[in-house]
Amino acid sequence: MDGRVQPRFGLDSAIVGSTDEAVVGTADGIVLTWNRGAELIFGYAAGEIVGRHVRMLAPPDRQREVEELVERLRCGEHIEGFQTVRRRKDGRLIDVSMTLSPIFDEKGKVIGAATVAHDISEHKRSDEEISRLNTELRRRVAELTALAEELEAFSYSVSHDLRAPLSRIIGFAEILQSRASKLDAQERHFVEVIARSAHQMADLIRDLLDFSRARRGEARVGRVDLDSVVAAARRDLEPESAGRRVTWRVARLPMVRGDAAMLHLVFLNLLSNALKFTRGRKEAVIEVGCARGCEGPGSEAVLFVKDNGAGFDMGKAARLFQPFHRLHSSSEFEGTGVGLATVRRVLARHGGRIWADSRPGRGATFYFSLPRAGEVLH
Ligand SMILES: Nc1ncnc2c1ncn2[C@@H]1O[C@H](COP(=O)(O)OP(=O)(O)OP(=O)(O)O)[C@@H](O)[C@H]1O
Ligand SMILES: [Mg+2]
Repeated sequence: MDGRVQPRFGLDSAIVGSTDEAVVGTADGIVLTWNRGAELIFGYAAGEIVGRHVRMLAPPDRQREVEELVERLRCGEHIEGFQTVRRRKDGRLIDVSMTLSPIFDEKGKVIGAATVAHDISEHKRSDEEISRLNTELRRRVAELTALAEELEAFSYSVSHDLRAPLSRIIGFAEILQSRASKLDAQERHFVEVIARSAHQMADLIRDLLDFSRARRGEARVGRVDLDSVVAAARRDLEPESAGRRVTWRVARLPMVRGDAAMLHLVFLNLLSNALKFTRGRKEAVIEVGCARGCEGPGSEAVLFVKDNGAGFDMGKAARLFQPFHRLHSSSEFEGTGVGLATVRRVLARHGGRIWADSRPGRGATFYFSLPRAGEVLH
């Protein structure tokens, strides 16, 4: 089809008469036929417009456009989906989409034109509304992001600046503790509480700084050997497992693409949790392995850390990965509740996810995905 309308197709057929679209037949811009759809869209009855020039349908600033269209049709050009503005009889401006086709006689000479037009005002209004809402949404997201960054920078600098006075408190408390013989029992108790609380605060600050760095710090991306990362995290945690019976079942893990220091934080937190929440077990069993995607080609590996510890109720786990959200009381298991939030941030930066499976008293398994070496870090 080259878009040519053959003259044997009459413009006043039953279909043309019943359609909601305007179907208008013209010759040199003069209206010859005008269907019911055209009456509905433009508000003119056939008797009011047949014999007159189509420019009467265009607002003053579009008169030239009409002349140009008439000229293009005269040259035999087919014009598809032309969007413009037209004026109804009642003066209201409407958005229309038109397809204009020249009509040829048997010798190929242009003898007129057929225009099919429909009202797209409603459509345009919805498009404009959607684009307005999108702009608004983008503005709000940018505003929120800026706000979150500001808050993050604030908490980072506060945490950072708290370290100096805190180490003075810890230092002086230790001096006092070293002179314990000169203190009475109550004074010794006070100093001990000061030292313990200051250490707790130092842990919290360290966790908060890690949490902050997990998003803000620059990622140094490369191939990371997870076997060494797990081994290093286990070494760091030796003091926590000292004197306990801990069985480790650590499988070979794949090479992944990421930041080694950040991935160290992931295993440090997950393994530290596994050690902490198995504290009540005669024998802790901690497994590190690959659930899927580690063998053969593939873009993503799903790894897991599993323990046989206290576990938790999955019904209460919805906010498990949010900062400061804890499912166990501090009297039972100490902690600040920032570890898993940091882990999630690090994994998100690597394009990965984390989720958990657990039952109270039946241990917990944390699964997480990471891009295999060769994939790109965002
Ligand atoms: N292996 C696990 N077994 C049972 N519960 C767990 C386990 N890991 C995490 N949880 C639950 O999720 C909570 C949040 O864990 P997260 O590591 O963020 O905080 P935390 O260990 O309490 O403190 P920290 O900031 O020192 O890591 C924990 O308080 C605990 O209730
Ligand atoms: Mg933890």
